Amino acid sequence: MIELEKLTNIPTIDLGEIYLRAVEYEDYKDMFEYGNDPYVTKTLTWKYDEIDDAINSVKNVFLSRPSRLLPSAYAIVYKANNKMIGTCDFHTIDWDLKQGEIGYVINRKYWNKGYMTLCSKALIDFGFNYLELESIIITHDAKNTSSKRVIEKSGFRFVKDFISSKTSNLSKLYQIKKTDYRK
Ligand SMILES: CC(C)(COP(=O)(O)OP(=O)(O)OC[C@H]1O[C@@H](n2cnc3c(N)ncnc32)[C@H](O)[C@@H]1OP(=O)(O)O)[C@@H](O)C(=O)NCCC(=O)NCCS
Repeated sequence: MIELEKLTNIPTIDLGEIYLRAVEYEDYKDMFEYGNDPYVTKTLTWKYDEIDDAINSVKNVFLSRPSRLLPSAYAIVYKANNKMIGTCDFHTIDWDLKQGEIGYVINRKYWNKGYMTLCSKALIDFGFNYLELESIIITHDAKNTSSKRVIEKSGFRFVKDFISSKTSNLSKLYQIKKTDYRK
């Protein structure tokens, strides 16, 4: 386990046209924009119907992370307009196993520019080198072909098919181990 201070004050990561910083309360407005977009949420387990859903999510899902012994979540910011366009983060960590699970979402206007692949690779580096994890897992709905591509391009290996308990859909689990990881 790493210290609470380190979980809370995560480093900013520069990725060229975008950068990653910890999620802030005011992000709820930009989060509502993509969380209310049915194209974005069609294979996800959540969506925001009302602005209050985004406010509750920032407070209870994102800003509460360190108090739940998880690192602060990263917000993805597009530098040219300083807009918060998505999140990528470790939403689950088993500190005994030193294994974390990542998730991500990005505003539809910014899809297919390679941004999430950059973010995913940065999260893997953060997981192994900052959080000192030994393995990282990720899942996607079998129909989510763009997430599958991000996962493959990031260096994850396919582990197994499973049925999601949340959606009852066929889903796929992948893993990357620190021992196999090459930056
Ligand atoms: C999945 C998601 C994060 C991808 O983000 P992104 O920034 O567009 O990803 P990238 O640009 O890095 O890579 C996307 C890849 O998917 C490919 N792709 C896009 N649509 C596709 C489709 N319908 N079929 C197959 N491949 C597709 C792109 O061509 C690209 O691959 P390439 O580099 O080999 O050409 C984004 O679409 C999203 O936020 N979706 C909604 C939320 C979500 O699904 N989150 C993941 C849950 S597991």
